[in-house]
Amino acid sequence: MQQSDTQRAARAMRWALLSAAMLMLTGATAFALRQQAATPDPSEITPAMVDLGRAIFHGQGTCFACHGGKLEGSQIAPTLMPHKWRDAKNGDFAEIFRVATHGVPSTLMVAYPGGISPAQAKAVASYVWSVSTGKVKP
Ligand code: HEC
Repeated sequence: MQQSDTQRAARAMRWALLSAAMLMLTGATAFALRQQAATPDPSEITPAMVDLGRAIFHGQGTCFACHGGKLEGSQIAPTLMPHKWRDAKNGDFAEIFRVATHGVPSTLMVAYPGGISPAQAKAVASYVWSVSTGKVKP
Protein backbone atom coordinates (compact mmCIF):
# COMPACT_ATOMS: atom_id res chain seq x y z
CA MET A 1 0.00 0.00 0.00
CA GLN A 2 2.65 2.44 1.17
CA GLN A 3 4.74 1.43 -1.82
CA SER A 4 2.07 2.08 -4.48
CA ASP A 5 1.21 5.48 -2.98
CA THR A 6 4.83 6.45 -3.32
CA GLN A 7 4.90 5.17 -6.89
CA ARG A 8 1.73 7.10 -7.74
CA ALA A 9 3.18 10.24 -6.24
CA ALA A 10 6.40 9.75 -8.17
CA ARG A 11 4.45 9.27 -11.41
CA ALA A 12 2.39 12.40 -10.77
CA MET A 13 5.57 14.32 -10.07
CA ARG A 14 7.15 13.12 -13.33
CA TRP A 15 4.11 14.29 -15.27
CA ALA A 16 4.13 17.65 -13.55
CA LEU A 17 7.80 18.13 -14.34
CA LEU A 18 7.35 17.02 -17.93
CA SER A 19 4.38 19.38 -18.41
CA ALA A 20 6.33 22.26 -16.91
CA ALA A 21 9.26 21.50 -19.21
CA MET A 22 6.97 21.42 -22.25
CA LEU A 23 5.38 24.71 -21.27
CA MET A 24 8.77 26.34 -20.85
CA LEU A 25 9.91 25.02 -24.21
CA THR A 26 6.79 26.34 -25.94
CA GLY A 27 7.24 29.69 -24.25
CA ALA A 28 10.90 29.90 -25.20
CA THR A 29 10.13 29.06 -28.83
CA ALA A 30 7.36 31.65 -29.03
CA PHE A 31 9.67 34.20 -27.44
CA ALA A 32 12.48 33.41 -29.86
CA LEU A 33 10.13 33.76 -32.84
CA ARG A 34 8.79 37.06 -31.54
CA GLN A 35 12.32 38.34 -30.97
CA GLN A 36 13.25 37.39 -34.50
CA ALA A 37 10.31 39.30 -35.94
CA ALA A 38 10.78 42.32 -33.70
CA THR A 39 14.54 42.71 -33.46
CA PRO A 40 16.58 42.46 -36.64
CA ASP A 41 19.96 40.90 -36.01
CA PRO A 42 23.13 41.61 -38.04
CA SER A 43 23.55 37.85 -38.52
CA GLU A 44 20.55 37.99 -40.91
CA ILE A 45 22.38 40.36 -43.26
CA THR A 46 23.39 38.90 -46.63
CA PRO A 47 25.41 40.53 -49.44
CA ALA A 48 22.22 40.53 -51.55
CA MET A 49 20.39 42.52 -48.85
CA VAL A 50 23.23 45.04 -48.73
CA ASP A 51 23.19 45.46 -52.53
CA LEU A 52 19.42 45.89 -52.49
CA GLY A 53 19.79 48.38 -49.64
CA ARG A 54 22.41 50.34 -51.59
CA ALA A 55 20.00 50.69 -54.52
CA ILE A 56 17.20 51.81 -52.19
CA PHE A 57 19.43 54.30 -50.34
CA HIS A 58 20.43 55.96 -53.61
CA GLY A 59 17.04 55.47 -55.24
CA GLN A 60 13.50 55.08 -54.00
CA GLY A 61 14.33 55.62 -50.32
CA THR A 62 15.78 59.08 -51.16
CA CYS A 63 18.15 58.75 -48.18
CA PHE A 64 21.07 60.11 -50.22
CA ALA A 65 19.27 63.42 -50.74
CA CYS A 66 19.56 64.27 -47.04
CA HIS A 67 22.33 61.99 -45.76
CA GLY A 68 24.64 62.38 -48.76
CA GLY A 69 25.77 59.99 -51.46
CA LYS A 70 28.60 58.71 -49.28
CA LEU A 71 26.57 58.84 -46.06
CA GLU A 72 28.68 61.88 -45.17
CA GLY A 73 25.69 63.97 -44.06
CA SER A 74 24.55 67.40 -45.18
CA GLN A 75 23.20 70.68 -43.86
CA ILE A 76 19.88 68.90 -43.47
CA ALA A 77 20.80 65.56 -41.93
CA PRO A 78 23.57 63.90 -39.92
CA THR A 79 26.22 61.59 -41.35
CA LEU A 80 25.48 57.88 -41.12
CA MET A 81 29.18 57.04 -40.92
CA PRO A 82 30.63 56.38 -37.46
CA HIS A 83 29.56 59.30 -35.25
CA LYS A 84 27.83 59.99 -31.98
CA TRP A 85 24.49 58.49 -32.95
CA ARG A 86 21.61 60.56 -31.69
CA ASP A 87 18.54 58.54 -32.61
CA ALA A 88 19.81 55.12 -33.67
CA LYS A 89 21.48 54.15 -30.40
CA ASN A 90 25.11 53.01 -30.84
CA GLY A 91 24.43 52.73 -34.56
CA ASP A 92 22.99 49.26 -33.91
CA PHE A 93 21.39 47.52 -36.89
CA ALA A 94 18.09 47.17 -34.99
CA GLU A 95 18.17 50.88 -34.10
CA ILE A 96 18.86 51.99 -37.68
CA PHE A 97 15.95 49.80 -38.77
CA ARG A 98 13.78 51.33 -36.05
CA VAL A 99 14.59 54.88 -37.22
CA ALA A 100 13.91 53.92 -40.87
CA THR A 101 10.51 52.44 -39.92
CA HIS A 102 9.45 54.90 -37.19
CA GLY A 103 11.28 58.08 -38.18
CA VAL A 104 12.34 60.73 -35.68
CA PRO A 105 9.20 62.63 -34.61
CA SER A 106 9.06 66.34 -35.48
CA THR A 107 12.07 66.14 -37.81
CA LEU A 108 12.57 65.62 -41.54
CA MET A 109 13.36 61.98 -40.78
CA VAL A 110 10.04 60.37 -41.57
CA ALA A 111 9.04 56.71 -41.23
CA TYR A 112 9.56 54.68 -44.43
CA PRO A 113 11.18 57.51 -46.47
CA GLY A 114 10.18 57.41 -50.13
CA GLY A 115 7.32 55.06 -49.26
CA ILE A 116 9.60 52.03 -48.94
CA SER A 117 8.22 48.76 -47.57
CA PRO A 118 9.29 47.12 -44.28
CA ALA A 119 11.44 44.65 -46.26
CA GLN A 120 13.07 47.52 -48.14
CA ALA A 121 13.63 49.34 -44.84
CA LYS A 122 15.42 46.25 -43.53
CA ALA A 123 17.60 46.07 -46.64
CA VAL A 124 18.49 49.76 -46.46
CA ALA A 125 19.23 49.43 -42.72
CA SER A 126 21.55 46.52 -43.48
CA TYR A 127 23.35 48.70 -46.05
CA VAL A 128 23.71 51.65 -43.65
CA TRP A 129 24.89 49.38 -40.83
CA SER A 130 27.40 47.59 -43.09
CA VAL A 131 28.85 50.87 -44.39
CA SER A 132 28.97 52.55 -40.98
CA THR A 133 30.78 49.59 -39.48
CA GLY A 134 33.29 49.59 -42.34
CA LYS A 135 32.20 46.23 -43.74
CA VAL A 136 31.38 47.57 -47.20
CA LYS A 137 32.03 50.76 -49.16
CA PRO A 138 29.21 53.27 -49.75
C1 HEC B 1 14.19 64.59 -45.95
C2 HEC B 1 15.49 64.27 -45.38
C3 HEC B 1 15.77 62.85 -44.96
C4 HEC B 1 15.61 61.69 -45.70
C5 HEC B 1 15.05 61.52 -47.09
C6 HEC B 1 16.10 60.62 -44.86
N1 HEC B 1 16.53 61.10 -43.67
FE1 HEC B 1 17.35 60.04 -42.15
N2 HEC B 1 17.44 61.70 -41.01
C7 HEC B 1 17.08 62.97 -41.41
C8 HEC B 1 17.28 63.90 -40.30
C9 HEC B 1 17.01 65.39 -40.32
C10 HEC B 1 17.74 63.13 -39.22
C11 HEC B 1 18.09 63.64 -37.81
C12 HEC B 1 16.83 63.72 -36.96
C13 HEC B 1 17.13 64.45 -35.67
O1 HEC B 1 17.04 65.69 -35.68
O2 HEC B 1 17.47 63.79 -34.67
C14 HEC B 1 17.85 61.76 -39.70
C15 HEC B 1 18.29 60.71 -38.94
C16 HEC B 1 18.52 59.43 -39.43
C17 HEC B 1 19.14 58.38 -38.68
C18 HEC B 1 19.63 58.46 -37.24
C19 HEC B 1 21.02 59.12 -37.18
C20 HEC B 1 21.57 59.18 -35.78
O3 HEC B 1 22.53 59.94 -35.56
O4 HEC B 1 21.08 58.48 -34.88
C21 HEC B 1 19.19 57.29 -39.50
C22 HEC B 1 19.75 55.90 -39.15
C23 HEC B 1 18.60 57.66 -40.75
N3 HEC B 1 18.21 58.97 -40.68
C24 HEC B 1 18.48 56.81 -41.82
C25 HEC B 1 17.83 57.16 -43.00
C26 HEC B 1 17.58 56.22 -44.07
C27 HEC B 1 18.01 54.78 -44.09
C28 HEC B 1 16.89 56.91 -45.03
C29 HEC B 1 16.33 56.40 -46.32
C30 HEC B 1 15.49 55.23 -46.25
C31 HEC B 1 16.74 58.29 -44.56
N4 HEC B 1 17.32 58.39 -43.33
C32 HEC B 1 16.13 59.29 -45.26
C33 HEC B 1 16.65 63.34 -42.66
C34 HEC B 1 16.34 62.46 -43.69
